[in-house]
Amino acid sequence: MAIREIIKLPDKRLRLVSEPVKKIDAGIRALIDDMFETMYAAPGIGLAGIQVGVDKRVVVMDLSKKDDTQKRQVFINPEVTWASDEKSTHEEGCLSIPEYYEEVERPAEVKIKYLDLDGKSREIAAEGLFATCIQHEIDHINGVLFIDHISKLKRDRVIKKFTKAAKTAAKKVEA
Ligand code: NI
Repeated sequence: MAIREIIKLPDKRLRLVSEPVKKIDAGIRALIDDMFETMYAAPGIGLAGIQVGVDKRVVVMDLSKKDDTQKRQVFINPEVTWASDEKSTHEEGCLSIPEYYEEVERPAEVKIKYLDLDGKSREIAAEGLFATCIQHEIDHINGVLFIDHISKLKRDRVIKKFTKAAKTAAKKVEA
């Protein structure tokens, strides 16, 4: 297991549409182990493959509270099969857009179809934090970020801030 680097805004790879996983082989299992280690170290509650630079449709999640035992969830090739008309608003953040939080409105409940680690097709209903998080992560594998759901004014402002920070960091490396 290893902690991988989390790519950050404005890295263009965050806009890639990830490829479906065709076979759950040793490489995919190693990727998932690394994604959990990376997510716990960050710390975060969800992570998509592309956030460690791998454009595969893989999502890991652990919504357990800090002091609880780990509750690892893996979603391979997840897709939303149903979304409620009812919406709910939660404050969201993202490990690829650190220290930025904004309220996002999404369907309050969704149903998700995915493959588990054994390649078995499963379906699950999600509400509350789980619904928010799984929609956020499925967005990632489609090249969508939570800032795409906020006003253009706020989005432009955060992109500008991160672009400027990336340029400053690049200059420091050159010096
Ligand atoms: Ni995110």
